[in-house]
Amino acid sequence: MAAEQLKDTVKEIDGVKIHYHRNEVVIVGAGGAGMRAAIEAAEAAGTGAVVDVVTKIYPTRSHTGAAQGGMAAALANVEEDNWEWHTYDTVKGGDYLVDQDSAEILAKEAIDAVLDLENMGLPFNRTPEGKIDQRRFGGHTRDHGKSPVRRACYAADRTGHMILQTLYQNCVKQQIRFFNEYYALDVSFAEVDGKRVPAAVIAYELKTGDLHVFQGKSIVFATGGFGKVFKTTSNAHTLTGDGVGIIWRNNLPLEDMEFFQFHPTGLAGLGILLTEGARGEGAILRNDSGERFMERYAPTIKDLAPRDIVARSMVQEVLDGRGAGPNKDYVYLDCTHLGAEVLETKLPDITEFARTYLGVDPVTEPVPVYPTAHYAMGGIPTNNDAQVISDDDDTVIPGLFAAGECACVSVHGSNRLGTNSLLDINVFGKRAGRNAVEYAKTADYAPLPEDADGFVRTLVRDLRDSQGTDSVADLRRELQETMDTNVQVFRTEDTLNEATKVIHSLRERYRNIHVSDKGQRYNTELLEAIELGFLLDLAEVVTYCALNRQESRGGHMRDDFPKRDDENWMHHTMAYLTGDRSSADPADHITLGQKPVRMTHYVPQERKY
Ligand code: FUM
Repeated sequence: MAAEQLKDTVKEIDGVKIHYHRNEVVIVGAGGAGMRAAIEAAEAAGTGAVVDVVTKIYPTRSHTGAAQGGMAAALANVEEDNWEWHTYDTVKGGDYLVDQDSAEILAKEAIDAVLDLENMGLPFNRTPEGKIDQRRFGGHTRDHGKSPVRRACYAADRTGHMILQTLYQNCVKQQIRFFNEYYALDVSFAEVDGKRVPAAVIAYELKTGDLHVFQGKSIVFATGGFGKVFKTTSNAHTLTGDGVGIIWRNNLPLEDMEFFQFHPTGLAGLGILLTEGARGEGAILRNDSGERFMERYAPTIKDLAPRDIVARSMVQEVLDGRGAGPNKDYVYLDCTHLGAEVLETKLPDITEFARTYLGVDPVTEPVPVYPTAHYAMGGIPTNNDAQVISDDDDTVIPGLFAAGECACVSVHGSNRLGTNSLLDINVFGKRAGRNAVEYAKTADYAPLPEDADGFVRTLVRDLRDSQGTDSVADLRRELQETMDTNVQVFRTEDTLNEATKVIHSLRERYRNIHVSDKGQRYNTELLEAIELGFLLDLAEVVTYCALNRQESRGGHMRDDFPKRDDENWMHHTMAYLTGDRSSADPADHITLGQKPVRMTHYVPQERKY
């Protein structure tokens, strides 16, 4: 049957129901980037009816809601600032691996991005005069590094939560259709005029176990990151890199996967995020003897240095024996001088987290903290129009877009500045939505391949029928432990080789896993098995790219190559899945290419703060 006729029909193959849908723009993911894209697409088209959003979880549960401290924009509401300083900070913060034209777009469009949200109803904190208030954040400075600047627009320490609620309300207003708890597992591609173009998203419906084929002229990926490859992480359980993994399995490249950010202030032993906004409000990191150690590592901006530097400094303090606690394995975030009023009004969530999860009251006691895996700088390569690119030469895949943490524009280079993530999802989410709808205006639907859902049907059936002995939980725990031990803040060739070995053995054992729930309805055990497959794939790419990059830059610190090496490594890594994936040596199935860093006028310099 022709694809046109399949729309709104249901087929049954081998006992599996397959539903067919069709719409101009199909967005995968309902976090900040996905919903911002949906709103923009609806506005540009004049109706929300042209957009379908397919999402693994209910939109307001998306991980954007966990972002706390703010969204950067040089509004200059409380002190002098401008977008050029913001661009400079972003480029320097990313250790000069940032594409500088992209950073200019980010910083320039930040101002409208905040005003858009305000117009949509977001309740930002206000100055006494009624302007949007702004706070300090790591690496954001005035006049190219002179002192910290107040650039982060915020809503207490619930900025991401407020953004998510605001965007969702506006999606509802636009009558955008959501497919909640539909888990995207593949994209089916077709060949049109010699070009590979996306034809449909294939998703698994958690409630019924049915499959759904969402045909779209434009397909936008906004599926978030993959922090669950690590054990100690600020990321939600859902952050298993499905979208990035789908792109990888379809033999499209991933960019800069070696760069992963460790947020300095996770609750010690738990990884739960305590916003950098606390340091923005004046909190101080101290070692066991109470010393403000950041004065030694970043004498000018101290505790408000970028995250890569602060996280490394904290780990160094612990390695040098100056850690606190019975095992000397954390440092303290001291908020006691901020006073109860600031804590209760501007930082209420983290105050409560410390009380609830560690039994520590930040009003009177310093809080034990340690770096926690937080954010993937790498991901699906895109250009400034959020179009996915397929090679080292920036060749565009027509009709395929990506935005947010799953994408790599690259505005964050090798280390993202805090508050540039909520900004990224708004600026590039908006661009993705606008460009997706524009593309759809003139494009035809790509022909739906005969067996579009075949891969997913087999994947789901094989896992459900699995009779193996290995448990998903065991494999996931072992993966996360090896990543925490070997691919963390400090890495060496030895630790990365060790991780490679463990990941390979886990991938072998993955073929022998056991899913005991054989049912169709709400089979979350099956879902976790699928997620583990994506985590294993991505952990291998991260580790292989980290092994390859023999220098230290931003979030990638090689103890055996401690210096940045611009002569040999001032380029983006492009990883391609090319060969037999069962081989133990990733070099047999991953090929690495490179892309130049686009420079405008910021000449790489040694990073000092
Ligand atoms: O510390 C924080 O509030 C996190 C913000 C971010 O990752 O941008």
